[in-house]
Amino acid sequence: MAEIAKKPIKITETILRDAHQSLIATRMTTDQMLPIVEKLDKVGYHSVECWGGATFDASLRFLKEDPWDRLRKFRDGFKNTKLQMLFRGQNILGYSQYADDVVEYFVQKSLANGIDIIRIFDCMNDIRNLETAVKAANKEKGHAQVALSYTLGEAYTLEYWTDMAKRIEDMGANSLCIKDMAGLLLPYTATELVTALKETVSIPIQLHTHYTSGVASMTYMKAVEAGVDVIDTAMSPFALGTSQPATEVMVETFKGTPYDTGFDQKLLAEIADYFRPIRDEALESGLLNPKNLGVNIKTLLYQVPGGMLSNLTSQLKDLGAEDKYYEVLEEVPRVRKDLGECPLVTPSSQIVGTQAVMNVIQGERYKMVPQQTKDVLSGKYGATVKPFNPEVQKKCIGDVEPITCRPADLIPPQLDKLKEEIAPYMQQDEDVLTYALFPQVAMDYFKYRDAQQTKVDATVADTENKAYPV
Ligand code: CO
Repeated sequence: MAEIAKKPIKITETILRDAHQSLIATRMTTDQMLPIVEKLDKVGYHSVECWGGATFDASLRFLKEDPWDRLRKFRDGFKNTKLQMLFRGQNILGYSQYADDVVEYFVQKSLANGIDIIRIFDCMNDIRNLETAVKAANKEKGHAQVALSYTLGEAYTLEYWTDMAKRIEDMGANSLCIKDMAGLLLPYTATELVTALKETVSIPIQLHTHYTSGVASMTYMKAVEAGVDVIDTAMSPFALGTSQPATEVMVETFKGTPYDTGFDQKLLAEIADYFRPIRDEALESGLLNPKNLGVNIKTLLYQVPGGMLSNLTSQLKDLGAEDKYYEVLEEVPRVRKDLGECPLVTPSSQIVGTQAVMNVIQGERYKMVPQQTKDVLSGKYGATVKPFNPEVQKKCIGDVEPITCRPADLIPPQLDKLKEEIAPYMQQDEDVLTYALFPQVAMDYFKYRDAQQTKVDATVADTENKAYPV
């Protein structure tokens, strides 16, 4: 075995994306982020993750902000730091598959508006769902990082992961990510996994995990010792719990060792000072639930990501069935097994979670079946590592013949039609992509935007009239 080179560990800061997605439902606004960009830019991060995932949806839906505008403002502010986004493969930033022309255009526009690194994953780990996005990023000279959606189960052996990693490297990925969305990767397993991957591929390897189960910083330490190149951390006010390990803690841990980041703790402290009142305010308003800050050992028992746990809680609350929480948690792994033992990450996590809730509430399994469950069982999200449960499949989709090809091969181009539909509201090229992903939410936002502008125009006209009476 080759000696592992000991070198400074690189860090991706997640405070502008995953940290607030995991802890405060993605509600941090652009105005709250911009004042600290200059300082973040001085730290020396490998990259700052600041876009994609749920940020796009939440900006439009809850904050009434244009996500593209946010990205451009980041690009203006970050002069020295690479910007990173999270991308759901053929599902882009949405919940079902899109045509190749939409995926290609989205990648192109993300890079054109300022993204440097696109982390692409698929909720089924079906390589075919990653190809279009990777090729598009390669074509635009962006950095395509491809993620293994890490999960546990009989099928997920070291051979499974190394085989997938090899295929990802061959596909043209510039780096590999182990994406552990539920915090399931244990420290000594990380040693084995990183060592095996390092022996298999030559592209850099990044590790992304969550603190949910309490092991994350130990996992990082073992992964770094095993040769991982980059780790994802969050500034302390929005670290731990369902978020990432704290940046300052990891920096201090490796100080004076060959892995030393060289970051300035004083600068990091100033950044933490900036975010602390935002955290306090979120705690006070209830946006930040203290429940999300502790160690959730149920994660290890049920292998459910933190975000999914809070989704289940709110779904059950809406149904007035909070007492069914543990029954639902026990149903989740059974549904997952019926659905080919897929990873639990957006959108498969929502699909499995919702089905588990329905199975328990109805008192009969698969009595009520949402379209998305049927789509999974029809092969429309791609191939799973294990076969579907044939009885469940029969009950849900009847005699429909499941597809086995790459699902997007059956989706005709969508862009031209979308452009036509949205024409009266178009103010920038990117609007068609916003509309493609979230038609209703986008339309509401465009109408809101128009109304705001009319208001501003009226005020300006009013002022002008007063200034220059006629
Ligand atoms: Co994450």
